[in-house]
Amino acid sequence: MTEPEPLLSVRHLTTLFEVNRKTYACALEDVSFDVYPYQTVGLVGESGCGKSTTLLSILRLLPPNARLSGQVFFKGVDLLSLSEQQMRAYRWKELALIFQSAMNALNPVLRVDEQILEAILLHRLMPREQARQRVHELLDLVGIAPQRGRQYPFQFSGGMRQRAMIAMALACSPSLLFADEPTTALDVMIQAQVLELLKDIQKKLGLAIVLVTHDLGVVAELCDQVVVLYGGKVVESGSVDQIYNSPQHPYTQKLLESFPDLHHPSSTLASIPGTPPRLTELPPGCRFEPRCFARFDRCRHEAPPLRQVAEKHYAACHLLEGKSPNAGSI
Ligand SMILES: Nc1ncnc2c1ncn2[C@@H]1O[C@H](COP(=O)(O)OP(=O)(O)OP(=O)(O)O)[C@@H](O)[C@H]1O
Ligand code: SF4
Ligand SMILES: [Mg+2]
Repeated sequence: MTEPEPLLSVRHLTTLFEVNRKTYACALEDVSFDVYPYQTVGLVGESGCGKSTTLLSILRLLPPNARLSGQVFFKGVDLLSLSEQQMRAYRWKELALIFQSAMNALNPVLRVDEQILEAILLHRLMPREQARQRVHELLDLVGIAPQRGRQYPFQFSGGMRQRAMIAMALACSPSLLFADEPTTALDVMIQAQVLELLKDIQKKLGLAIVLVTHDLGVVAELCDQVVVLYGGKVVESGSVDQIYNSPQHPYTQKLLESFPDLHHPSSTLASIPGTPPRLTELPPGCRFEPRCFARFDRCRHEAPPLRQVAEKHYAACHLLEGKSPNAGSI
């Protein structure tokens, strides 16, 4: 059987933010990963490691002080080579985003169904009556009774508002949905419902999803592939099984240890000592070196490349040198 082509291939994506005329913050460096059709990829890492920047770079929704390089192939087209006008044909219609803290982004003075209607009319050539029908379908899809769509956002609970935002993101039937921490602001029960909804929608619509979260339980539950970021670099990527059962990078190992066992919620939460590096003063060697329990001299001055350690399993650590099955790199 032939291997399907990736829907999205991110290659060597590097994002700098100009802080002042002489200083740049390197938010992402040489980030590469693939998203295959119908798959969910989890993007994980501590706060500030570049998760949101990755999504916003792919969608080219960054502020003017950002400088992007690398390639982002979507269905074979490099999105970074497109003009802003060409890029607009992809945003929302092919690639949709549920923003971090999206549920507070609804317009408080417009009824929820009107807001979804506006989103459809803005992006799609569809007559108003047909668009109204589509609003009903979308509300139904996300589990909101159409008559409740007549209400204002303040009459909605947090979970309902997040459902409405998901409906809005799906308005133009995208093939790839980016969801940035879609459940963090919700309480645990509601989080589970919203995640179940995403899973459901993915099955029904045959979407691919890139899910940003710091919750490894959510990743285990929902994702097929995992990309672990540290200090703006990919330190490990692989299938959920590879990452959870055979983590290769010391950071991934610590991240998994620091997460309470899904099946033993009372187990103690270990934390990783230290903090991630400052992006304006990045160390020349491995970015995890100051916090790494396995570091040795070379780590301080030489950055480890992302090496293949098994089929579609990559990790960036000097300890893995010579372990690669065929010394491939992404
Ligand atoms: N416009 C900007 N100018 C300068 N630095 C920025 C800008 N936007 C983001 N950054 C920096 O880039 C780094 C990555 O930020 P990003 O928001 O992608 O992290 P994150 O992994 O999404 O974190 P969190 O889990 O807290 O949402 C941070 O150090 C942040 O301060
Ligand atoms: S390269 Fe060195 S410091 Fe970095 S993760 Fe590997 S052992 Fe630790
Ligand atoms: Mg973020």
